[in-house]
Amino acid sequence: MKKVTIFDTTLRDGEQVPGCKLNTGEKIDLALNLEELGVDVIEAGFPISSPGDFKSVEEICRVVKNTVICALSRAVKKDIEVAAQSLKYANRPRIHTGIGTSDFHIKGKFKSDREEILRRAIQCVKWARNFTDDVEFYAEDAGRTDNDYLARVIEEVIKVGATTVNIPDTTGYCLPHQYGDKIAYLKNHVTNIDRAVISCHCHNDLGLATANSIAGMISGAGQIECTINGLGERAGNTSLEEVVMIIRQHKHLGFTTNVKSQMLNPISHLVSDTMRMPVQPNKAIVGSNAFSHSSGIHQDGFLKDSLTYEIINPMDVGADSSKIVLTARSGRSALAYRFQKLGFSFDRNDIDTLYEKFLLVADLKKEVLDTDLNEMAVSHKKKESAVA
Ligand code: KIV
Ligand code: ZN
Repeated sequence: MKKVTIFDTTLRDGEQVPGCKLNTGEKIDLALNLEELGVDVIEAGFPISSPGDFKSVEEICRVVKNTVICALSRAVKKDIEVAAQSLKYANRPRIHTGIGTSDFHIKGKFKSDREEILRRAIQCVKWARNFTDDVEFYAEDAGRTDNDYLARVIEEVIKVGATTVNIPDTTGYCLPHQYGDKIAYLKNHVTNIDRAVISCHCHNDLGLATANSIAGMISGAGQIECTINGLGERAGNTSLEEVVMIIRQHKHLGFTTNVKSQMLNPISHLVSDTMRMPVQPNKAIVGSNAFSHSSGIHQDGFLKDSLTYEIINPMDVGADSSKIVLTARSGRSALAYRFQKLGFSFDRNDIDTLYEKFLLVADLKKEVLDTDLNEMAVSHKKKESAVA
């Protein structure tokens, strides 16, 4: 099994989401939980961006013991110096520096040319190497960067000491086969690629962030950058919980992570509460409906054998046990099961009668609750004893 490095950027890319800003205390609490979860790298912030973020990174370095702590910077000397200062208490510091390499960025943002950007890429890695041996270079918008030029940049930054090379699909533009091919291209065309770890950093603008990261991993990337609940700029980043469970559920791929999957739901709730950012109910792994069954066909199968409709045991991801939700689409077996859970046992004829009443109630409501079931059961029992 090949161990994939899980690089968590909830506290940096995730925290960039409007409304998700964290204070130092909140960042420290989440960093300690991320360390406990088993991620390998915590990107703690962007220290030049504000004094508060500098302090957060510094304080996180004091309390986190084993996990690599990473600070982001642009390809600017001052940024890198400030990032290095913020990391001074880290046991395992990493500086993450880089520059946009697509023509969109080179021409549109920097008003520059490829040769000049290559020089700046080399220079920023050299500056960062003055402070630490663990330097990650990002080629921003690598997803839309010409592969030939990208390979040149990556080869040169490895020559001057980049130990991880991040290939971000910054705009979430790539299709999985394109992103996978890009990583394979670098593997085949960068002569010194074996001296660095390739990292995937995929955004979710087309809903493909996780698929692209997995394609990158299959093509040879050794690190995936991701966030809890998929938080991040615009449509978000690759979701950590999805990556971890894909790797776990598809063992035949031959990859593994250090993440304790039972912590995935608790940490998802913690991040959501701390950032005041609700998780969509249908979110894979951590959404409130991820283990709910509501249609009659599914409920009947699930009650006979959970494997018919569930590929993950909710206990493996720290979720509450699976739910049988009653709606107008539910069937008799689900109704009987829910009555049984409330302590009522009814025979087939009773259930047939109760099911007719249930449908009348269900058509008026979004969900039939225990209180409704109790009322139905009590009035049914009363009628039965009156007849007797
Ligand atoms: O999306 C991106 O390109 C980034 C870089 C700063 C790594 O977040
Ligand atoms: Zn990003």
